[in-house]
Amino acid sequence: MPTSAPTLAQFSWSAFPWNGTGELRHQALAHLGKWRWRSLFQVGVWPWFGSTESMDEQMPWGRGKSVSRPGGSEPAGPPVDPGGRALPFYHLPVLLQEVLDVLQPGPDKLFFDGTLGGGGHTEALLQHGARVVAMDQDDEALAHAGARLKPYEDRFCALRGNFRNFAQVLGEAGVGLFDGMLIDIGVSSRHLDAPERGFSFAREGPLDMRMDTTSPLTAADIVNTYPQEEIERILREYGEEPQARRIARAIVHDRASRPFTTTLQLAGMIERVCPKHGRRHPATLTFQALRIETNQEIAALREFLTAAPHWLKPGGRLAVITFHSIEDRVVKQAFQALSTPFLDRPEWPSPRPNPDCLTRLLSRKPVEASPAELELNPRARSARLRAVERLPA
Ligand SMILES: C[S@@+](CC[C@H](N)C(=O)[O-])C[C@H]1O[C@@H](n2cnc3c(N)ncnc32)[C@H](O)[C@@H]1O
Repeated sequence: MPTSAPTLAQFSWSAFPWNGTGELRHQALAHLGKWRWRSLFQVGVWPWFGSTESMDEQMPWGRGKSVSRPGGSEPAGPPVDPGGRALPFYHLPVLLQEVLDVLQPGPDKLFFDGTLGGGGHTEALLQHGARVVAMDQDDEALAHAGARLKPYEDRFCALRGNFRNFAQVLGEAGVGLFDGMLIDIGVSSRHLDAPERGFSFAREGPLDMRMDTTSPLTAADIVNTYPQEEIERILREYGEEPQARRIARAIVHDRASRPFTTTLQLAGMIERVCPKHGRRHPATLTFQALRIETNQEIAALREFLTAAPHWLKPGGRLAVITFHSIEDRVVKQAFQALSTPFLDRPEWPSPRPNPDCLTRLLSRKPVEASPAELELNPRARSARLRAVERLPA
């Protein structure tokens, strides 16, 4: 540990514990508070020039081809690193134009992107002249997006952390209110495409599923240690898996003789007890449920939705993209509660003002991907965008 407040140059990527609680972090944040924006942007640009060698070589645009990115303006073609080399494919941003329509980026506007991922949404905001503070809990995402967004280093900063804690991190760093905030939740294409991360039931890998590889709970821990009733609840609640009881029972039976360690071991067992009908793999919903539990995704979403409206300027907008009905329901209910000006109860003589009403709904129905986007990116088929706008003070 340094004995005096470190300068920014003294930090190294691995030693910068954004989500830690130690003295170093405290000193770093104190330093940031002093330097405010200038420092924050400096911090944001230096740590993420790590190796991208481990990244998948898959590139849907084709190496070196010049093809417009969906919804984006300039520059055309795949993202490049600071040396001008094409970066490996990471993730295609979904509903990109729709997000821009909602957030209306422009020069001197400040945005928060809580799910930086491959940096697609953030890059589009930056291309419109905005400043962006971004966050991700995945080191690989930070490395990729940091390299991609280096040209915007004077207006872009990325922090490692879970968006459920964003208010604490940004509050300590002295960052002010936003013109717009975005979270595009769930996993990136990179997560699904990387067998070693353990998200895919179609590729052999460790049964891991952590987006933050430093967090203590893996999917293997859940299937090997949770009681049967708890596994069943998770599969029912987070997967809406009709065969939740049967799968939970089979997991507990099988793990007694051989603990689950790999993705294909679990997927194969599920296929045995629930033979395939139709196009969907029988392990799809179980893997979704385990991923949500491993990363505590619903709790993180709820906490973010509670805090985020307080970080918007009047007229500022909050946009959330979800990928399944469980998350979409949480967002819909939270936005409705935030956007209901009056509350009524049978025992009250008349409706009363809602003290928690901070926003107005920008649309009742979620925005979905256009046929053109679906043709380009089938993973956008379940994406739903909802948004609210902060009311005047
Ligand atoms: C769907 S991708 C976002 C893609 C991004 N919008 C883009 O344009 O490339 C989701 C990203 O959010 C991150 N993520 C998911 N939940 C998170 C959380 N609670 N806190 C921080 N990052 C999170 C994941 O690690 C992943 O990189």
